[in-house]
Amino acid sequence: MEIDFAPWLNMAIRWLHIITGIAWIGSSFYFVWLDNHLEKPAEPKEGLSGELWAVHGGGFYHKQKYAVAPANMPDNLHWFKWEAYFTWMSGFALLALIYYYGADLFLIDKSKMDLSQWQAIGLSLAFIAGGWAIYDGLCRSPLGQKNKLVGLIWFAVLVGAAYGLTNIFSDRAAYVHIGVIVGSVMAFNVFMVIIPNQKKVVASLLAGEAPDPRLGQIGKQRSLHNNYMTLPVLLMMISTHYPMTFGNPYNWVILAGLAIVGVLVRHFFNLRHKGQSNMAYPVSAAVLFVLIMVFAANMEARERASHSVSSATFSQVQAIIGKHCVSCHAAVPTSDVFEEAPGDVKLDSPALIRKYAPRILEQAVTSDIMPLGNETGMTDEERATLGKWIEDQAAKE
Ligand code: HEC
Repeated sequence: MEIDFAPWLNMAIRWLHIITGIAWIGSSFYFVWLDNHLEKPAEPKEGLSGELWAVHGGGFYHKQKYAVAPANMPDNLHWFKWEAYFTWMSGFALLALIYYYGADLFLIDKSKMDLSQWQAIGLSLAFIAGGWAIYDGLCRSPLGQKNKLVGLIWFAVLVGAAYGLTNIFSDRAAYVHIGVIVGSVMAFNVFMVIIPNQKKVVASLLAGEAPDPRLGQIGKQRSLHNNYMTLPVLLMMISTHYPMTFGNPYNWVILAGLAIVGVLVRHFFNLRHKGQSNMAYPVSAAVLFVLIMVFAANMEARERASHSVSSATFSQVQAIIGKHCVSCHAAVPTSDVFEEAPGDVKLDSPALIRKYAPRILEQAVTSDIMPLGNETGMTDEERATLGKWIEDQAAKE
């Protein structure tokens, strides 16, 4: 018996990542909701800034908020931080397992930049650390007080990073990296700013001193930024399933557009919690989404037209697949990396090639994910030949 550990490890870490991510984002959405719904306290009390009633799971809850801190330390105070830390740690472990350990297959695209594994890992880490340094520096700078301006500059920095990364790494890895940069900023906000500030407030309370209200305000600002980054980051994490996004020649523009959609939707809910429903936001999000779809299809069609082929026969297709795909995608792969056909996709018979045609289109024509790592050097013309044959097949049906 032989156990292939990598996929089991991948599954366990991904499972953990999703569970902790749900716990983190769930509690963060809940607290934003809570904050936005607070009402003036019915019975004013020293330091009490708002309260609300809620019903859930068979009982009534009465929440009260002390904007800076209560007069005395409560005996039992609950913190919210491990959800964020574990989301980051599991996410980083997944990044390391898939994109660092498997750098040749998943991270490096030799047609863009001929990097060694260690160079690629170094660049990846530099982008993650650089993202935090720029964001944190921006918040601490004199501009840091102006939330909208900080948001705009940070967005521009990320679009620049997306452009850069899509020209350095494989397309899929580039998208994931933008997600990792944003997700890391969110987790570091909790680890480096929000929690340390809360600890200082608690320390002053214990020492019987009045806590500095600025500590809470800074924490609140970072928390607000996290709130707007949440929806875009989730999309970036699941984008790896959607080759029509990262596989597009203007993938960085599409990513920027989709991030704006996420921010508009989040903004709508934030306003709505405060009783100011403004349908302009979801409507513009929907319009923008449709525009992105049309733009993506257009750019993809242009790209395909630029290296189109006039005809494609099945024997050409079979030869291309034989040369570039079946070393992995066969009942018994000859590749030394995979012992079984990955994803259970086998392409070693004409019937199977026909069956998988739409997925071949996604993986090897719309995007260039396959062949993984492109060690066999599949050319644009070969991709165009596959595309032409699959289109002809679809037209016949
Ligand atoms: C070096 C090994 C390797 C080669 C060569 C390779 N693949 Fe794959 N393929 C994989 C792996 C690993 C996965 C599953 C993981 C992933 O999606 O990255 C996969 C997944 C797929 C999938 C399923 C993706 C999905 O989720 O729908 C398709 C379709 C596919 N490959 C097509 C191809 C085609 C077409 C070629 C040749 C142009 C090819 N592959 C060459 C390793 C390879």
